[in-house]
Amino acid sequence: MLDLDVKHLQNFLVPHELEYLQGQAQAAWDLIKNGGGPGQDFLGWFDLPINYDREEFDWILECASKIREESEVLIVAGIGGSYLGAKAFIEARGPLMETVDSRKAQHLPEILYLGNNLSPAYYLDVMDYLGDRDFSLNIVSKSGGTLESALAFRLLRQFMEAKYGEKEAANRIYATTDKSKGKLKTLASEKGYESFVIPDNIGGRYSVLTAVGLLPMAAAGLDIGRMMQGAQDYKLQLEKEDIEGAAIRYAMIRNALYRKGYRIEVLASFDQELKSFSEWWKQLFGESEGKDQRGIYPASVSYSTDLHSLGQFLQDGSRILFETFLSVAEPRRDLEIPQDPEDKDQLNYLAGKKFSEIQNIALEATALAHADGGVPNLKLTLDRLDEENLGMLIFFFEAACGVSGYMNAINPFDQEGVEAYKKNMFALMGKPGMEDLAQQLKGRI
Ligand code: PA5
Repeated sequence: MLDLDVKHLQNFLVPHELEYLQGQAQAAWDLIKNGGGPGQDFLGWFDLPINYDREEFDWILECASKIREESEVLIVAGIGGSYLGAKAFIEARGPLMETVDSRKAQHLPEILYLGNNLSPAYYLDVMDYLGDRDFSLNIVSKSGGTLESALAFRLLRQFMEAKYGEKEAANRIYATTDKSKGKLKTLASEKGYESFVIPDNIGGRYSVLTAVGLLPMAAAGLDIGRMMQGAQDYKLQLEKEDIEGAAIRYAMIRNALYRKGYRIEVLASFDQELKSFSEWWKQLFGESEGKDQRGIYPASVSYSTDLHSLGQFLQDGSRILFETFLSVAEPRRDLEIPQDPEDKDQLNYLAGKKFSEIQNIALEATALAHADGGVPNLKLTLDRLDEENLGMLIFFFEAACGVSGYMNAINPFDQEGVEAYKKNMFALMGKPGMEDLAQQLKGRI
C-alpha cells in the first residue's frame, strides 16, 4: 500500500487550491489513459505492467540465470534511463549492503555500471578489478549510438574478446536496444549477441520494467514477476481511484506548490537503500518536466547525512523548496539499541528501542521543523522495500510524472534539451560534417 500524508501542507495550501486544480488533473490523467496529448506515442509504459511480452520475459529469466551461473560480475553499460532504474531497484532491494560472501553463497553476481561517465581512471580501475573474474556484459542503449555507452561497449568488447576469445565473448554479451534500428542492433545481429527489445513507444526513463531494467534486476536476484505484479496492482488501483488516487493527488500538490513559487522539490529519505532510487526519480522528473524554461527542479537528500550539511539550507535558506519524504514502514532488517550498564554516553534512555523507531521519530521531527521553517512537505510511505512495493512505486511515480507534466502544459515524454550538449561535443571532437559548428564553437571557448 502507498500512503500519502499531507498534514504538513496545511499552512501552505488551502483546500480550494487543490479543488480548483481537479479539472486540470482530470484532463491530464485522461490524456495519459487515452492518449491525445503531446508525446502520445510514448505511452507504452502505461499498459506495460499488464501487456508485456511474456515470451521475452521468460527468456530474460533464462538469461539471468545463465549470467548468474557463468559470472561473478555483470557489467551494465548504459546511461540515463538505460541504467538508472536497474541500479535504483537493485540497490533498493539490498544486495548493495550485503557482503561479497553472502552474494557468492546465493550465486548473485556483483553488478557494476559503466557507460554513464567519461572518467578514464574509473574505466581502468573497473577493468583492473575485473582481472581474472568471470563477467558478463549487458549493453543497453535504445538509440544504439549514445557516445558514453558506445565507448564503454567498444572498450569492454575488446577487453572481453581478448580475455575469452570472440566466440565466448559473444556468448557473454547481452544487447538491449531497438528491435531493428541503430548501430548496436546491427552489431548485435552480426556478432550473434543475445538481444532484447526496448519497445518504440517507451522512452528511456520510463523503461525500467522493460528488458532494460528487468535483465539486470533478475540477474541480481530480484523477483521481477512480483515487481510486474506490484506495478500492475497499482495501475489497476489508480484506474479505479481516478483523480482521488495518491499518484494524481501528488501531481496536483506539486503543481499547486510550483505555482506558488516553490521551484525545487527535494526527495528526502532516511533509508540508505534508496540513495540510487533518488537518482532514478530525479531523471524521471527532471528530464520529463524541465522544459520551455519551466518546471520543478528535482533534488534529493539522504538523511541523516544531509541533515548535517544541506539540512541548514532546508531549514533556513531561500524559501523556494518543498520536500517529499519517502518512508518505508518496515525496514528490511532492524536493530535494537543495547543497554550499557555504565551508561557513560547517557544513551540508556534509548535502550530497547529499535533503530527504525528512532528513524521514524527523526523523520517526524525533521518534517515538523522544516514545515515550521517554511518548507511545505508531504510523506509517501510504502510498506516495505520488496519487489511488489517497488513495482507499485515505479508506476506511482511514472503516472504522477506524466500527469504533472501535462498539468504544466509540457510534453513529459521528449528530451530535446539533452541534444544540445551532444551537438557541441560531437562538433568539437571533429565529427565529419560538423566543421562549421566546430569553428563557431572554438571561437567561444
Ligand atoms: O530517458 C531517456 O530517454 C534518456 O535518459 C536515455 O535513456 C539516455 O539518453 C540514453 O539513451 P540511449 O538508451 O539511447 O543510449
